[in-house]
Amino acid sequence: MKRIGLLTSGGDCQALNAAMRGVVKGLSRNLDELEVYGFLNGYKGLIYGDYRLLSSGDFSGLLTKGGTILGSSRQPFKKMRIPDEKGLDKVEAMKQTYHKLNLSCIVILGGNGTQKTANLLREEGLNVIHLPKTIDNDIYGTDVTFGFQSAINIATDAIDCIHTTAASHNRVFIVEVMGHKVGWLTLYAGIAGGADIILLPEIPYDVDKVIRAINKRTKAGKGFTILAVAEGAISQKDAKLSKKEYKEKVAKRKYPSVSYELAAQIMEATGVEVRVTVPGHTQRGGSPCPYDRILCTRLGSAAAKAILDEDYGYMIAMVNGKTKRIPLEQVAGKLKTVDPDCQMIQEAKRIGISFGV
Ligand code: F6P
Repeated sequence: MKRIGLLTSGGDCQALNAAMRGVVKGLSRNLDELEVYGFLNGYKGLIYGDYRLLSSGDFSGLLTKGGTILGSSRQPFKKMRIPDEKGLDKVEAMKQTYHKLNLSCIVILGGNGTQKTANLLREEGLNVIHLPKTIDNDIYGTDVTFGFQSAINIATDAIDCIHTTAASHNRVFIVEVMGHKVGWLTLYAGIAGGADIILLPEIPYDVDKVIRAINKRTKAGKGFTILAVAEGAISQKDAKLSKKEYKEKVAKRKYPSVSYELAAQIMEATGVEVRVTVPGHTQRGGSPCPYDRILCTRLGSAAAKAILDEDYGYMIAMVNGKTKRIPLEQVAGKLKTVDPDCQMIQEAKRIGISFGV
C-alpha cells in the first residue's frame, strides 16, 4: 500500500497533467493498493490541508489537457520560513499535513522556486520527488523541462504570424517572449521564427547596435525587421545599474515593458513604424505538444519507478535522452542560463542574426 501526494506549484504550463498521469499510471499498474491525494493550488494545499482523494478516473484523458487539474499558486521560497498572517508556521504545517495523511512520498511539479521548497521539505525529513516544469527551461541538471517545447511552438507561431503582416506594411515588429531571468524560450522561438534580432537577458544589448542592424536591413532592401525580445532583456546601460537602481528605473518607466521602451528608441532613431506584440500567457496555454507529452510520460513513469524503489529526494531529469535521478541538494537554487558564447549563439550570429552586441 502506498499513499502519495501530488502538487503543482508556480506558473502553470501545458504538460503538468500529462506528467501526473504518467506518475499515477506507472504506480497503479504496479501496486495492489494506491491512494493518491491531490493538494490544491500548490503548496497552499499542503500548508492548509486542502486536498482531494483522487481516483484513477481523475487521471484519464489528461495527456492532452493543458493547465493543471490541481490548480497552482506562487508561494515564494523566501517566505516559506515566515509565518502567515495568522502566525502559522508554514513548514511545520506542511509536515503535519504530510504525516496526518501518512504519505509514503509527495511528488512536486514545478520550477526553480518550487524545487527549493521541495528540497527544504526533504531536509525536514519528508520523502520528496520533484518533476522539472517550466516554459523557461531554466532548471539546472536537466537538459529540458516540460512546457518548454510547447511554449516554443506558440511563440514561434506568433512570430510566423507577425512575419506576414510586418512584410505587408514594411514595419519593424518586436515580439516579446516570456522569460524574465533567462532567454532559452526567446532564443529557440527567435531562431525557429526567423527573427532578425534576438535580445536575451544573458546578453545585454547596445541600443545603437540594434538600430544599426535594422538600418542595415533597410539599406539591403528589406522592408521589415523582426525582433524577438525576452521579457527580461536589458540594455548594456541598464545592466550597469545596481539591482536596486534598475528596479527604481523600471518602477518609474512610462513603458509597460522593455519592448515598448526599445520600440520608442527605434522609432526616434530610424523614423520607421514599430509595433510591439506580446503573446504573454498564451505561451503557457493550450494542449501540450507531442514532444512534451512524451517527455512527461517518461518523466512521470520514471518518478513512479523511484517511488516503487522507495528512492526519494530526487529531481527526475532528462539527461542525454535518458531519465535520471538527480539529488535535489545538488541542483536546488541553481539556474540554467544561456551561455552567450555557446555554439547555438555562434551559429545564429554566423547566419546574420543580431544579438544587439
Ligand atoms: O516562470 C514561467 C513564467 O511564465 C515566466 O516566463 C514569466 O516571466 C512568468 O512566469 C510570469 O509569471 P506570472 O504568470 O505570475 O505573471
